Amino acid sequence: MIDAERRIATLAHTPHLELLRQRFEENYGSSERATLVVAPGRVNLMGDHIDYNGLSVLPMAIQRHMALLYRERDDRSVRLVSSDPRFPNREFQLADQIAPGEEGDWSDYARAACQAIVQRYQVGRGFDAVIHSDIPIAAGLASSSALLVASALAALHANDVWTEKMELAVVLAEAEHYVGTRGGGMDQAICLAARRHSASRIDFDPLRLTAHPIPPEWHFVIAFSLVRAEKSGAALETYNLRTEESGQALQGMTDSLGHSGEIDSYSDLLAEYHANELIAKSGDVLDETLMRRFVHVVTEGMRVRQAEKALHSYDMRAFGELMSESHESLRESFEVSTPELDELVEIAVRAGAVGARLTGAGLGGSVVALCSDSKSKKVLKALADRFYKKRNKRRDLGAALDDLMFVAEPSAGASVTPL
Ligand code: GLA
Repeated sequence: MIDAERRIATLAHTPHLELLRQRFEENYGSSERATLVVAPGRVNLMGDHIDYNGLSVLPMAIQRHMALLYRERDDRSVRLVSSDPRFPNREFQLADQIAPGEEGDWSDYARAACQAIVQRYQVGRGFDAVIHSDIPIAAGLASSSALLVASALAALHANDVWTEKMELAVVLAEAEHYVGTRGGGMDQAICLAARRHSASRIDFDPLRLTAHPIPPEWHFVIAFSLVRAEKSGAALETYNLRTEESGQALQGMTDSLGHSGEIDSYSDLLAEYHANELIAKSGDVLDETLMRRFVHVVTEGMRVRQAEKALHSYDMRAFGELMSESHESLRESFEVSTPELDELVEIAVRAGAVGARLTGAGLGGSVVALCSDSKSKKVLKALADRFYKKRNKRRDLGAALDDLMFVAEPSAGASVTPL
């Protein structure tokens, strides 16, 4: 509860709680007996496009949140109001099968969550909610998973159902497939179970988190490429194609090694063979595209383990180098970078970051750069001057810059607090 209290205290000092209350009262009457749900965004530090291949990843939650204020209802209706005028009010009924909104509708993440909670826990009490988020949208920082998690927590608590976090994270990873992406389980798990001041190694099957404190002098700078990466929009097709390709690559390798039917996961394959042996063989067995995808998955998996060690031993330089190698692999082998992401990486490193990489699915979105606390101002200034101002000559970016780039604070996972 300490974290929840601290979060409430933080929120109370920001306009968000007031704004949520105000919007709540405008739409639904008194906000008495309302409950606040807060779900953070995340930045992945190492291990992209490998969670859906069952390999471990290393993300952390950040200080940007999806905040949802709700009050339960006596019927099955769910009503949603967003503080963002781009997202019109929505209403649907809790049911075993909840129809999606119009293509790519923002409320699909809430519908996905509610459908999964009904199917799993047979709940029937809906809720009225207002939502406010300061997680940049479509910026690779998992704002949509935060909406999914916040909606699920509202649906659960409105019905007095308590679940174990890991159980819920597994349910919600599957639930998100509702929007059409065949994603992995990283975002929902870190959003639910992150620890303050820490990054977490997430292992899958079974799902578990191991928190590792981030040294306070390590600053992770996040910078948005200004290219939106909509998980349920333009990026969806490429994302799903990559999941398919990495599956085909695995299949090709196990067939050629005489293990078809026996080995059906990257982790089992890596338990049986040394990664370098597999990489060497992949060139003979797979076509060029599948070979590249395979090499990314296997080497990225190794980089997660190495990054974890570097974090343990406070070796910032080694961690940074791994980040840059990871970016190279995501760019060259997995082909999910963009010129804007590459440019941000280059600017950050030239300004003194020890390493930088795209974070999340790529195809737009953001980069994350690691630098010492003494260098972060210089890195932010270089990004502002050489990237953002260059693209916005006529406009003073002012406060908008704080949303485009900021130093990430390793934050706690989601909380539910009755007001
Ligand atoms: C998206 C998905 C995650 C993960 C990342 C890439 O954020 O939701 O499951 O696959 O892309 O690492």
